[in-house]
Amino acid sequence: MEKFIVHGPCRLNGEVTISGAKNAAVAILPATLLVKGKCHLENVPDISDIRAYVKILESLGSNIEYISKNELIIDNSNVNSAIASSELTSKFRASYYLLGSLLGRFDKVQISLPGGCNLGARPIDQHIKAFERLGATVEVRNGNVYASRTTSLKGAPVFLDVVSVGATMNAILAATLAEGTTVIENVAKEPHIVDLANFLNSMGAQIKGAGTDTIKITGVKELHQVSSYSIIPDQIETGTFMVAAAVTRGDVLIKNCIPKHMEPITAKLLEAGATVKEYEDSIRVSMDKKPNSFTVKTSPYPGFPTDMQPQICILLTVASGTGMIVENIWESRFQYTDELAKMGADISAHGTTAIVKGVDKLYSAPVHSHDLRAGAAMIIAGLVAEGNTEVYDIHHILRGYEDITAKFANLGANIEYVKNEEN
Ligand code: EPU
Repeated sequence: MEKFIVHGPCRLNGEVTISGAKNAAVAILPATLLVKGKCHLENVPDISDIRAYVKILESLGSNIEYISKNELIIDNSNVNSAIASSELTSKFRASYYLLGSLLGRFDKVQISLPGGCNLGARPIDQHIKAFERLGATVEVRNGNVYASRTTSLKGAPVFLDVVSVGATMNAILAATLAEGTTVIENVAKEPHIVDLANFLNSMGAQIKGAGTDTIKITGVKELHQVSSYSIIPDQIETGTFMVAAAVTRGDVLIKNCIPKHMEPITAKLLEAGATVKEYEDSIRVSMDKKPNSFTVKTSPYPGFPTDMQPQICILLTVASGTGMIVENIWESRFQYTDELAKMGADISAHGTTAIVKGVDKLYSAPVHSHDLRAGAAMIIAGLVAEGNTEVYDIHHILRGYEDITAKFANLGANIEYVKNEEN
């Protein structure tokens, strides 16, 4: 089984450059299907979720040329299939964006129910509701989602019952080429929603209000190809390095990020006692003492992101006093706390709440990555711990963090990648 061996403890020092945002890229790649032409994308993260999306698009007939590992030209002129292979789509969550984008172009679409991180129930009822409001028929059976339309989709009011990133993105994708006006209310406001809207608008879509509670889309007949679009930097990768810098009592300049997107994380690091300096497109985080404990409650943007919950927990594990985490988005996002207990952390997690009593030290242990962000937290814990921490199930981590060992190595960490321990 492949694994990382994190040699701790270590104080991070230096500069790191953030990659493009995974959760923007996984919507923008399928969004290219709405144009029968070429899209030139820059700052695309080189991660396994994107490589999987490239395979899916190619299986539908896209021609994809890599200019470099982070820059690609997608030509969808010859896409002729709207049935995506279940082997490819069942592996990760964001494959559901094929529904909204392919429905803009084809009468009948089929994908298998999306997989992804195990964070508890992950329903797609709000996605389906949005498609149905626009006139599509959607059926879920035998592990597949079948969506169809007899005429063009028609713009309509859509009210989302829960604030959902995926449903907001899918409603935008489906409404872009619909006839008439769609007004989507109670939408998610994450930076990746704004990035998807900006990308579609750069191709001639008419989407207003992304980043607010209401998004208005005036359907257009067609989109035109885009000569160059650069994906925003990854908020969660930035936050991961911010926390790692603070908890290792390091000093790190994090480049190519958007400080405004980081405000909820910056606020918690300041409460913990870190120094955070913001520049135009970089942030410097340093810390030279034991962290103070604090309370963190996850909520949709601009609240504290659930995808930073496991990482910020590492600060609390070694803080002075007792902190608390309240998880308001996913029902099973505390599984990783059992792994941290193996390293000496004192955490009691029940339902939506975890109480974290700070300890003096963490110690190395073999630990598992329950999901992508939990895996990142295991690496940070390994950097703090005494000894060599073996992190297993690292395929989760590789889904969302580009060059993670090299980036940490540049900051003075020693994280070995072991391909297969039998060899
Ligand atoms: N929900 C419903 N019905 C729906 C959709 C969602 O009840 O139809 C509920 C969910 O059960 C959850 C809440 O609404 O309680 C929010 O879910 P959301 O739809 O916003 O999540 P998602 O779109 O499936 C994206 C990210 C996740 C991130 C969440 C929350 C992508 C590909 N994934 O998931 O990212 O945790 O938003 O911010 O964008 C990650 O990157 O590690 C990751 C898990």
